Amino acid sequence: MDLVLLGAPGAGKGTQASLLGEILPLPRVSSGDLFRAALANQTELGLKAKVYMDRGELVPDEITIGMVAERISQPDCAHGVIFDGFPRTVAQAQALDDLLGRMGRKVDLVIYIRVSTPVLLERLAGRWTCPKCGRVYHRLYSPEKVQGECDDCHVPLYQRDDDTPETQSRRIAVYLEQTAPLQAFYRERGLLVEVNGEQDIQAVHADIVKAIQKARGEAA
Ligand code: AP5
Ligand code: MG
Repeated sequence: MDLVLLGAPGAGKGTQASLLGEILPLPRVSSGDLFRAALANQTELGLKAKVYMDRGELVPDEITIGMVAERISQPDCAHGVIFDGFPRTVAQAQALDDLLGRMGRKVDLVIYIRVSTPVLLERLAGRWTCPKCGRVYHRLYSPEKVQGECDDCHVPLYQRDDDTPETQSRRIAVYLEQTAPLQAFYRERGLLVEVNGEQDIQAVHADIVKAIQKARGEAA
């Protein structure tokens, strides 16, 4: 299955992608994580992307599409992918259709995680991330067991560079301008399922699992 998780910054795409491991044992391809990994390795791609990320702007389509195309051509992606944060523009969505089409595949389901702006801002402000595995925590809603340390990797958590108040607001505005049109793009194709992202993490997960089961024709 090729599944797209769509939603604004802080909607819970990364959180939900991590939880899907059991029901959907597929690699998670997060364009944001790929850019952050490239930056950590000081590659040309990472340094180029940083300029846009620090401003809360989207990295240009040709850079992003090339990076994702390279990632999904790897053998672990042969049976499907959970896309987190990609596509984010109509041009990226069309490119994804082409890329998957060449592999005899298509986007099977798009889950739109709906969350209002005040809740998004609160979530982003309290987020802490593991630099090693990318797992995200929240000071109030999903705290780590030992303060400041990843439950799985036992390394210190950090706050992302693009989680300053100005950049958070800019990212949400960019989402509304450039990514929200994808809701209509996928709804018209009969692929979009909307879930209420303002429930607690497990309730959102349960709704996503139901949508996946329905798309696969399984009884919920
Ligand atoms: P990216 O890394 O994708 O960031 P984003 O879209 O801004 O989304 P976030 O990762 O901030 O939010 P999330 O939805 O994953 O929420 P999370 O699960 O962490 O992109 C970063 C940058 O890279 C972009 O700005 C752009 O520059 C560039 N980029 C990336 N992809 C690109 C593309 N395709 N094209 C061009 N440029 C691209 O949850 C947030 C917090 O809330 C956490 O603390 C979590 O614990 C908590 N939380 C989650 N769910 C709940 C819940 N139900 N209840 C309570 N708390 C919750
Ligand atoms: Mg994320």
